[in-house]
Amino acid sequence: MFVNLLWILCLALSRFVLGQTDNGIQNDPISVFVTSPGSGSGNYVFALNVPSNSGDIYFHLSGPAAYSWVAVGTGSKMKDSLMFIAYLNSTGNGVTLSPRISTDETEPSYSSSINVETLSGTGVFNGTISVNARCTNCTKWNKGSLNLKSTSQSFIYGLGPSSGSLKKLQSDSLSAGIERHSVYGNFVMNMTKATGGTDGTTLLSTTFSSVTTSSGASADGDQTHDSNWPVIIHAVALSVAFIILMPGGAILLRIIPASVRWHWVNQSVATILAGIGGVIGLWLSTMYNRSSSYNSAHQVLGIICVVAVLVQWFLGFWHHWQYKKHQTPTKYGAVHLHMGRIILVLAIVVGAIGLSWSSVKTGVIIAYVVIAGVIVVVVLALSMWKRHFSESLSFLPAFGPSKRSVNSEGSYENLADPFSNRYEYRSYESNTPLASYPNANNSR
Ligand code: HEM
Ligand SMILES: *[C@@H]1O[C@H](CO)[C@@H](O)[C@H](O)[C@H]1NC(C)=O
Ligand SMILES: *[C@@H]1O[C@H](CO)[C@@H](O)[C@H](O)[C@H]1NC(C)=O
Ligand SMILES: *[C@@H]1O[C@H](CO)[C@@H](O)[C@H](O)[C@H]1NC(C)=O
Ligand SMILES: *[C@@H]1O[C@H](CO)[C@@H](O)[C@H](O)[C@H]1NC(C)=O
Repeated sequence: MFVNLLWILCLALSRFVLGQTDNGIQNDPISVFVTSPGSGSGNYVFALNVPSNSGDIYFHLSGPAAYSWVAVGTGSKMKDSLMFIAYLNSTGNGVTLSPRISTDETEPSYSSSINVETLSGTGVFNGTISVNARCTNCTKWNKGSLNLKSTSQSFIYGLGPSSGSLKKLQSDSLSAGIERHSVYGNFVMNMTKATGGTDGTTLLSTTFSSVTTSSGASADGDQTHDSNWPVIIHAVALSVAFIILMPGGAILLRIIPASVRWHWVNQSVATILAGIGGVIGLWLSTMYNRSSSYNSAHQVLGIICVVAVLVQWFLGFWHHWQYKKHQTPTKYGAVHLHMGRIILVLAIVVGAIGLSWSSVKTGVIIAYVVIAGVIVVVVLALSMWKRHFSESLSFLPAFGPSKRSVNSEGSYENLADPFSNRYEYRSYESNTPLASYPNANNSR
């Protein structure tokens, strides 16, 4: 009798300590998977109830609102997974729940044939995106099905980026663009444990914010911390090429050390880097719904920019070749000069459009435009001033079209230029046989 009483007391105490719901779920027709996504700001929770003999499922999905989206998907990989993705609605105080299907390891697309609706308990509470929902006739869909008899049905989960430089995704659109995950992983669920009851009543009355351990579910493998590294490499490679190296190449040609060779080497490195960045951009485009048809301003202008740089390289090469042959400036040189300036300005515009496209905060975009703009304006001003300064004796006639082209090779051919290290390469320009080009020897 006394032992019995003690036992009841212990049970009551443990229910109190562990939390009522944790204990309750052991006996409820609910399987729940709980994991920490790592940021310390709360758990990721997915709970499932499948009422017997109906094709409907009821689920709870929640995670820290610090992540731009919170998602669950069926199966063990993204391909062909039926996913439910939750993000803030446009006013930021509610939740949009979007059913999507993935065709690959790419952004999943909204699937209007999936009939899912949010129920009471859905919203943003205490910094947590929380969803209670029913998906009607949802145990089979055109790309797959749930095995309701399985004790280890696989699922995937993912959480969107939480980076401080990105705008928070807030949208009412079911097909809103989402960014690549910062955290993802796999888990398995005991579907027989999740089966029972009617209308998801038990699931809807459970307070999942106090459920801290999985029940009828467990992690399958380790959680992966991911980043959008292709986007970062794409942005860094193209910024370095267009905003640091290429303007730097103008300085190398005209100011220090005013050398064609250093200009040539530098612009070649920049061109290769721009090409690599561009190719990564083409590959990235296949990953997002907004970019998969290659017709956005960023893509079209970006492709024009990179192709123009390749043309620019050949123009520079060809001009130099002709110059050495005939010892006179060429129209290729003139085009090279003007196109170079246009490309530098266009590249800043393309970069700004790209940043806003990947939902970077406005402040970051402004900072980028200011820094890139200052660099390019200063470099263009310096090189124009240098040209003007070098040509100052013939300044007025230089406005004529024929005269203008006379100087199109740049200051290094201008013997009147006191800052040009013309003695270093002049001998090469005039004396070295054409056949030795472009294997520039050390005289140059
Ligand atoms: C913009 C949207 C998304 C993009 C671009 C994307 C891209 C990718 C890529 C490239 C990988 C391979 C990573 C690697 O091997 O290093 C991957 C893996 C993975 N993703 Fe996503 N993902 C997106 C959305 C989602 C969503 C919504 C979920 C969760 C429901 C998810 C769950 C996973 C999981 C579990 C893996 C590992 C298993 C697998 O390779 O399929 N992803 N994702
Ligand atoms: C966002 O959700 C909140 C809470 O459900 C709601 O009050 C608000 O009207 C929603 N905003 C829009 C634009 O629908
Ligand atoms: C939010 O947090 C407060 C205090 O921690 C708690 O009393 C309340 O129940 C929480 N609300 C929800 C919906 O979890
Ligand atoms: C349920 O979904 C299946 C497969 O998507 C479909 O063939 C069937 O017609 C649907 N049943 C109802 C009642 O909507
Ligand atoms: C799955 O859940 C059922 C019902 O709760 C239970 O009897 C069974 O032991 C569980 N199986 C596994 C492998 O966890």
